[in-house]
Amino acid sequence: MNRLNIILATVASVTVVGTLGAAAFVYSGAYNIGADDPHSKATYAVLEVLRKRSIHAHASAITVPDLSDPQLILKGAGQYAAMCTECHLKPGQKDSELRPGLYPQPPNLSQTRVDPAQAFWVIKHGIKMSAMPAWGGSHDDMTIWSMVAFLQKLPELTPASYKAMVAQAPPDEDMDPDMDMGDGRDPKGH
Ligand code: HEC
Repeated sequence: MNRLNIILATVASVTVVGTLGAAAFVYSGAYNIGADDPHSKATYAVLEVLRKRSIHAHASAITVPDLSDPQLILKGAGQYAAMCTECHLKPGQKDSELRPGLYPQPPNLSQTRVDPAQAFWVIKHGIKMSAMPAWGGSHDDMTIWSMVAFLQKLPELTPASYKAMVAQAPPDEDMDPDMDMGDGRDPKGH
C-alpha cells in the first residue's frame, strides 16, 4: 500500500469505529435523557447556535403585517392569557408550577421583547426537543399574528394593565370555559 492508501484506510477505519461507538452509546441507554440533567456547556452552546440560526433563517422571508390594530392586540391578549402564561409568565408573576421543571427554560415574555417575524415562526412551528408547541396546527396565521402583536406590548404592561387588557379580550372558542378572565366573566363573555 502506498502512503495515500494507508491514510485513506486509517480514516475509513476510524470513521467506522466512531460510528459503531456512537451507535452502541445510543443503543446502550447510557445517555441520561432526563430534563433535570443539564447538557454540558459545549452541547448547550451548540444547541443555542442551532436554534438561533435556524429561527433566523426560517423567519427571514416572513413579511410582518401591521400589528398596531388595537382589536388584534386585544385578541392576542386573550390568546396569551389562555395558553401561554404557565410557561412564559405574565406581569407580576414570578413563577408557575410548570416552569421550574422545564429544560430549556422558557423566556419570561413579560420582560423580553421578541422580534415579530421570528416570534411568528416560533409560535407557528414550535421548537423541537423543548416544551414550545407548534400552535400552527390549531390556529390560523391571523390568530398567531394577534399573539405576536400582543407580545410587542406585553413587556410594557403592569399587572393591572395586563389584567384590564385580558378582561377586554374578545371571547374565544378555544379558551377553557372555566378560565378566570379577571372580572368574573368566563371567556365566552358570560
Ligand atoms: C409548555 C410550555 C410552553 C407553552 C405552553 C408555550 N411555550 Fe413558548 N416556549 C417554550 C419554551 C421552552 C421555549 C424556549 C425553547 C428553547 O429555548 O429552545 C419557548 C419559546 C418561545 C418563543 C421564542 C422566544 C425567543 O426569545 O426566541 C416565543 C415567541 C414563544 N415561545 C411564544 C409562545 C406563545 C405565544 C405561547 C402561547 C400561545 C407559548 N409560547 C406557549 C415553552 C412554552
